[in-house]
Amino acid sequence: MSVARPSYTKYSTDELMEVIDVFNIPESTLQQIQGLLDASEPAPDAGNFFRYYNPRSKTEAFERSYEEKVGCRHALAVNSGTSALIASLLAAGVGPGDEVIVPAYTFFASISSIVVARGIPVIVDIDESLTIDPEAIAAAITPRTKVIMPVHMIGHPCRMDAINEIAKERGLIVIEDAAQACGGTYKGKYLGTWGDMGCVSLDAYKVIGSGEGGIITTDDDWLYTRSQSYHDTAACWRPDRFARERKEGELFCGENYRMPELCAAVAIAQLRKLDAITSATRAIYHQLRREIILPAGAKWVEPHDPDGVCGYSLGILFASQDDAVKAADLGIGGLAKGDTKGVRDWHVFWHWDHILEQKTVTPEGFPFRSPYVDKLPDYSPDMCPTTKKIMLRLGTIAIQPTDTPEWASAYASELNEGLVRLFKA
Ligand SMILES: Cc1ncc(COP(=O)(O)O)c(C=O)c1O
Repeated sequence: MSVARPSYTKYSTDELMEVIDVFNIPESTLQQIQGLLDASEPAPDAGNFFRYYNPRSKTEAFERSYEEKVGCRHALAVNSGTSALIASLLAAGVGPGDEVIVPAYTFFASISSIVVARGIPVIVDIDESLTIDPEAIAAAITPRTKVIMPVHMIGHPCRMDAINEIAKERGLIVIEDAAQACGGTYKGKYLGTWGDMGCVSLDAYKVIGSGEGGIITTDDDWLYTRSQSYHDTAACWRPDRFARERKEGELFCGENYRMPELCAAVAIAQLRKLDAITSATRAIYHQLRREIILPAGAKWVEPHDPDGVCGYSLGILFASQDDAVKAADLGIGGLAKGDTKGVRDWHVFWHWDHILEQKTVTPEGFPFRSPYVDKLPDYSPDMCPTTKKIMLRLGTIAIQPTDTPEWASAYASELNEGLVRLFKA
């Protein structure tokens, strides 16, 4: 056909102005920006928001930068930490009846992802580092165990060398939930790169964020291929999208967990700030530990690698729940006070109704009730007593990257006065 057809550009500066508006920029500045944009020529390929077949893909650029940053072979950007976990579990071959060992203190999404992958969560105790206890892992292994999922809660590293050792001895796969631990390390190696696969969240409340988003990391080419397959069932990730399966297990029905380009653009900028954020929070974390004087019977949460913590949360273990309730009056966070009033929280096992009551999306109760499951773990609000005792004594102080040494000193001395007042004999 020789009839000239005008080119269609889907996105224009109208969409850009809406994005800019998210940053809550004053109206006068917005008008100036609009004026500048109106005066400039839009590029013919303006705003390709699809990550594949796109030479300027932000998602692709983010993945390569993340690989370089943490030193892994493959990083796959996805649309949330939850989808990172689900795609990783399925890439690793978790299926009906397969057991996944996971700690009793984690955000519920870790547990949920296992059930969505049709596996059975085996929930075990943490220790006073607030991370999964390797001895509890070893004791929970059965012939049905397939995966160990350590969770680096509040940016505290799990004992990854011990966990990997257990996994190696027993032929298990390790999938780290590093949702809360971007930038954290254990023995100098980034969290999320110790296991066979690692999953990071980039949601709005994490160390760095893209609004919503997640990252899967792995050094294993096959696990990478399979997680790509699950995250993009349209198969755009394949060198030849419509080719026959290159190896059995490469193609199956998946989802669309692709990271949106707009989120990836934010993620790239955030990744550039990661070192600055982590070194700022770590410095304040260590300063507060030096300057706060704990009351009798209280102790610091001792991370397995104090130099590797993300540093945005400083944990104190009080002598009792009553002490933690008292400390809450000084603005120290934790569950203790809420617990006395029946406040619920999705981070602790005794509130996970979905598991305790085995609630499932359809009434037949799969995967809990299925011919693949001989015996379910004993799900009960008392199943992990050590974790409950620890969590009800825990107090946390939140640290922000903008906190200064002067602020930290002033905060510590005010807190010290308050602690003396509250805890005097
Ligand atoms: C430990 C843990 N795992 C998984 C997730 C899920 O991440 P997202 O919110 O990105 O889905 C979170 C989020 O809070 C988390 O804290």
